[in-house]
Amino acid sequence: MTTVIEVRGVSKQFKIHHERHQSLKERVLHPRSGTTELFNALRDVSFDVGVGETVGIVGHNGSGKSTLLKCICGVLKPSTGQIRLRGSLAALLELGAGFQPELSGRDNVYLYGAMLGLSRRTVDAVFDEIVEFSEIAPFIDTQVKFYSSGMYVRLAFAVAVNVDPDILVVDEVLAVGDERFQAKCVDRIQRFQREGRTILLVTHNADQVRALCDRAIVLDGGDLVADGPTHESLRVFRERLLDEAAEHDPEKLLGTIQIESVTTPSGSFEVRNGAGIHLDVTVSAQGAFSGNFVVEVFTRAGLLVSRSDAQGAPVNLAPGANRVAVDLPALPLLDGVYDVNLGVVDAHGHTVVAWREGAASLQVIYDGREGGIVALGTAVTQL
Ligand SMILES: Nc1ncnc2c1ncn2[C@@H]1O[C@H](COP(=O)(O)OP(=O)(O)OP(=O)(O)O)[C@@H](O)[C@H]1O
Ligand SMILES: [Mg+2]
Repeated sequence: MTTVIEVRGVSKQFKIHHERHQSLKERVLHPRSGTTELFNALRDVSFDVGVGETVGIVGHNGSGKSTLLKCICGVLKPSTGQIRLRGSLAALLELGAGFQPELSGRDNVYLYGAMLGLSRRTVDAVFDEIVEFSEIAPFIDTQVKFYSSGMYVRLAFAVAVNVDPDILVVDEVLAVGDERFQAKCVDRIQRFQREGRTILLVTHNADQVRALCDRAIVLDGGDLVADGPTHESLRVFRERLLDEAAEHDPEKLLGTIQIESVTTPSGSFEVRNGAGIHLDVTVSAQGAFSGNFVVEVFTRAGLLVSRSDAQGAPVNLAPGANRVAVDLPALPLLDGVYDVNLGVVDAHGHTVVAWREGAASLQVIYDGREGGIVALGTAVTQL
């Protein structure tokens, strides 16, 4: 596979200045006071992206995702290491990066095109399409500084996807804007995928990563800690999320509840399509806890088949070992292996207090002829 993005040993340090004297008068009197500290936002990050790949980048707030994208787009220069690109690149960086606030939307579109090396005539040719996609035609001659964040993102996305880039880099922006526009963006990204373009996608939405990416990279405190198939990387990400949450957990709940084991009455995890399976789960708790039990079923390719209602399965855990029965009464799934994730969340379904990714793998047997994930039992009758 041809490599289109090559990131080699990239580190990025920021200088952070700590002022000792806070007031203006003090700073005038002591102009060189304070200390400067070097902060590593990225540490020795290396990976390659092949042509046509869609790679997700996930990590906590401040883990270095945007810094990495900015280095790739050339907005920031790495402190050490190298980045090589093959082909043209269009980027949708964080809000605020990219557009000139004093200029109108129209001028920004042309400026952005020029930055990508496009002639005025080339931009002219796609200008109407850009405005149409963005749905902000009435405001195209308004200064960008008066745009709402939603309008800003609409225009930025519209430009990035209409200038025919080989590589598309998207930072988080899919979270902005209403659901309909988000769906339109996702649709457009999928079209890019079919066209064989290369995409780097930063998002906090794990479902979006699963749905769109073949591969995911996990950053943690500036280090690349996982790079592989999406579901494996997301497992690493979730485990780290839990570890870190445990450190900041005011009630110290995390780690005190564990999903210990999953068995079935027959000992087998094989199930025929349409039949059910019963999972017997052992959950240990150090103290009493009332919350909800959550069950997720994924395909091996990382597609979420189903997540149970996070508020619909109350459990009252007692100190010691607890048993929880999970019934999947009639699996309509087609042939294949499905991974089951199990978790315990708080009563509101917001905070995860225990999680076990890949707690069980179900082997579904199906000898019908439908294709896909789900057997719908579609019937066709000629009338
Ligand atoms: N220009 C800068 N000067 C100093 N520190 C910076 C600068 N830009 C980023 N940082 C720091 O580098 C770290 C990584 O920031 P970055 O924006 O890359 O994180 P992120 O993973 O994109 O986070 P988020 O999920 O919140 O968008 C943060 O601690 C941030 O404060
Ligand atoms: Mg960011």
